[in-house]
Amino acid sequence: MADGFINTPPKPEKLGAMTAENLKAALAGESQASQKYLAFSARAREEGYANVARLFEAVAYAESTHARNHLSVLGGIGNTGENLKAAFGGETFEIDEMYPAYDAVARMQGNKEAATTVRYALSAEKDHQKIYDATGTSVAGGHDRDATPVRVCPICGHTVIGDAPEECPVCGTAKEHFRTF
Ligand SMILES: [Fe+2]
Ligand SMILES: [Fe+2]
Repeated sequence: MADGFINTPPKPEKLGAMTAENLKAALAGESQASQKYLAFSARAREEGYANVARLFEAVAYAESTHARNHLSVLGGIGNTGENLKAAFGGETFEIDEMYPAYDAVARMQGNKEAATTVRYALSAEKDHQKIYDATGTSVAGGHDRDATPVRVCPICGHTVIGDAPEECPVCGTAKEHFRTF
């Protein structure tokens, strides 16, 4: 969904504790709804319901505007240097704590598909952590990152700067399927 127009979200505000909790919950819910609707849109398209697909895509976009507005009022959108630090911190938590714990539970319970989806995410978060770290250094020095393309495996999310590998080292997807940004 490349979209030139991005809303100017409402300003951050000093919030009551309960309102802050409410907006955090709403941010999580709206973010999930947006992702679900994109997945539902893809399924509708596969099943030949092109107009249902379009409806899900439109409502996904609407939910993402709600998520962005909630995030903004919560004070969760800083300048780019701050945002890179926040993004690095989020990836680091997922790598160090969240996904290793989820992986252990999935294996312990013998859930193969769950272990795979967790493994894909854990692996890609390591890519993201490194890239955010390097990019944060550039931006701290007042520089944009260079123009090298960023390529993403559409199956596991493996993320590389520059050329995609012939085969994804995490899931085996061929180079030509990588998405370029
Ligand atoms: Fe990530
Ligand atoms: Fe992959």
